[in-house]
Amino acid sequence: QKQGFDWFMRKEIFEQPKAVADTLLGRLNERGELVLDELRMSPELLRRVNKIVIVACGTAFYAGLVAKYAIEHWTRIPCEVELASEFRYRDPIIDPMTLVVTISQSGETADTLMAIRHAREQQAKVIAICNTNGATIPRESDAVIYTHAGPEIGVASTKGFTTQLVACYLLGLYLAQVRGMKYGDEIAALLAELERMPAALQQLLDERQGVLELAEQLKDATSVLFLGRHVGYPVALEGALKLKELAYIHAEGFAAGELKHGPIALVSQDLPIFVVVPPRGRDQLRDKVISNIAEVRARGAKTIVLGDADDDQARAHAEVFIPLPKVSTLVQPLLAILPLQLFACELATLKGHDVDQPRNLAKSVTVE
Ligand code: F6R
Repeated sequence: QKQGFDWFMRKEIFEQPKAVADTLLGRLNERGELVLDELRMSPELLRRVNKIVIVACGTAFYAGLVAKYAIEHWTRIPCEVELASEFRYRDPIIDPMTLVVTISQSGETADTLMAIRHAREQQAKVIAICNTNGATIPRESDAVIYTHAGPEIGVASTKGFTTQLVACYLLGLYLAQVRGMKYGDEIAALLAELERMPAALQQLLDERQGVLELAEQLKDATSVLFLGRHVGYPVALEGALKLKELAYIHAEGFAAGELKHGPIALVSQDLPIFVVVPPRGRDQLRDKVISNIAEVRARGAKTIVLGDADDDQARAHAEVFIPLPKVSTLVQPLLAILPLQLFACELATLKGHDVDQPRNLAKSVTVE
């Protein structure tokens, strides 16, 4: 069943080109427009939405954090992202004009399910992004966009995350299309870019050797930091989560701009710090991240930098550089996460951990 892989997780990391391609399949018509028939929500209703609230847990929550940047940029609809376990306990402001989007690989997460029930009691419409046909969460939602990742068996979510990102992008672009936003050309360009992602993910898998060697070098690390800005920030959070849950190493993700507000005190000689550098085009943002790398390097940190393959400046600041295929900023998380997943999987393997069944964790969390 593992088809020659040592772990389901590794197999699932390698399945991402196909999982992403399958999630994109059949979403474009011959005129190059996005079709999301399964949404079964009228364009009129979607035009009336005045707020989006994304609710999810863990890795799915981080996919939601990425989605917020994309959805707000493309649709100009305010979008909040909330941990499902917090949502209903704080009397959230939702009404029939609120679109609640839940993200869940398993479709059975109790916290997320309870959030849906609460939202529907307030007459909000709920769209579920889910990987499991007929699970409780899609059954209790108004509509569902299925990710087509295939079964995810490893406890740590990998292809679940990347396909959730794809589904969120599709939803954001669809809302922009339905609402006649002025980003016509940008939408077409982004859809074309998404179509190229399976090949880009395959390229990252083919070039994995550097990441595997890095895991060998860092297997005795006791703490690892991850930094990013903008959509690179949730990537940093997800990279840290993977390492915590699989390698049982203290790992934290920070917004790089927050370094000077506290976390820089953690930086010491030889501390490994992963930094996600945005692609060119967002130069202001990119320059800031590059100066953050210089700051931590000056304090002796070991910098592992993920950036555009042709970004010589980012490369020059890196002790180890992980080149990413060229992509636009909002889509970069889809690629940047793969080396981090592989790094955590490899490092946990080297430590002799059970990668598919990390201690204290279950695949679907059906208690609140
Ligand atoms: C981390 C992980 C968890 C899940 C979370 C939500 O690798 O797998 O953080 O993402 O428990 O699960 P779902 O998506 O099934 O609702």
